[in-house]
Amino acid sequence: MEANKNEIILEVKNIRKEYAIKKHFLTGRVLEKIAAVKNTSFEVREGMALGIVGESGSGKSTTGEIAGGLQRQTYGSIFYCGKNIDEMSDYEYQEYRRNVQFIFQDPKSSMDPNYTIGDNVSFPVLTLKLAKNKNEAYKLVSEMLERVGLNEKIKNKYPSEISGGQCQRAAIARALIVNPRVIICDEPVSALDVSIQAQILNLLKQLQKELKISYIFISHDIGVVNYMSDTILVMNRGSIVESGEAREVLINPQNEYTKKLINSAFIN
Ligand SMILES: Nc1ncnc2c1ncn2[C@@H]1O[C@H](COP(=O)(O)OP(=O)(O)OP(=O)(O)O)[C@@H](O)[C@H]1O
Ligand SMILES: [Mg+2]
Repeated sequence: MEANKNEIILEVKNIRKEYAIKKHFLTGRVLEKIAAVKNTSFEVREGMALGIVGESGSGKSTTGEIAGGLQRQTYGSIFYCGKNIDEMSDYEYQEYRRNVQFIFQDPKSSMDPNYTIGDNVSFPVLTLKLAKNKNEAYKLVSEMLERVGLNEKIKNKYPSEISGGQCQRAAIARALIVNPRVIICDEPVSALDVSIQAQILNLLKQLQKELKISYIFISHDIGVVNYMSDTILVMNRGSIVESGEAREVLINPQNEYTKKLINSAFIN
């Protein structure tokens, strides 16, 4: 079945995130804070990819983590399938967290080094009780590993025994195994060799088509974001300075900061 591109899966409404950077040494009162994200709103639709691009420190990861429930916003709201996550029952909140998964920059540090790849990929299934027993969970693990282009025998290896590209594929399998509707990819290829980067990006694209998954695709590289995304948000110092259809933003940028990002991408 085709993805319904009008269906809003995730909605971020006017969020702001403040971090305390200086506290009183005795009272703990906040003396100084910074706003890492300001006035940020966007929608993620079924089967669509939303790219977030900006320089280091512009607030991309903070935005992604708030959208997926890993961090709490200071102000503003997150809606999953039309429901405010702060007004959800425990079951609804658990469903939201299961349906919004993450892939990070460094796949090796996102895996527990003391457990095999098979164990790492099976953990979410066991935690969320999506399989009856370990045997059934391991069957799912083998299926998922093959789906992301790995030989299922890799499940007996430890993260330190496989390559970065293989480990990122395993991290994708771990995200997919709980059957999510959205995957937040935070710089998923920045730590990989250029030749491996293209393989991983194409795998993500193929999975998106097959499974109707939506992505929030975060990168400092406007070329990568453009390749992966239908729409783009450009962030600078915590704010969205430009947004629009990916190709349109790249060909016809309106904001000076976006122009600077594009120019520096072509000079490098
Ligand atoms: N836990 C924290 N405490 C204080 N400040 C923080 C914290 N996390 C992030 N920041 C600050 O918030 C701002 C945004 O950080 P964020 O990690 O979201 O940026 P980013 O765009 O993902 O950068 P990068 O491309 O380097 O990953 C930065 O100024 C950062 O220093
Ligand atoms: Mg980041």
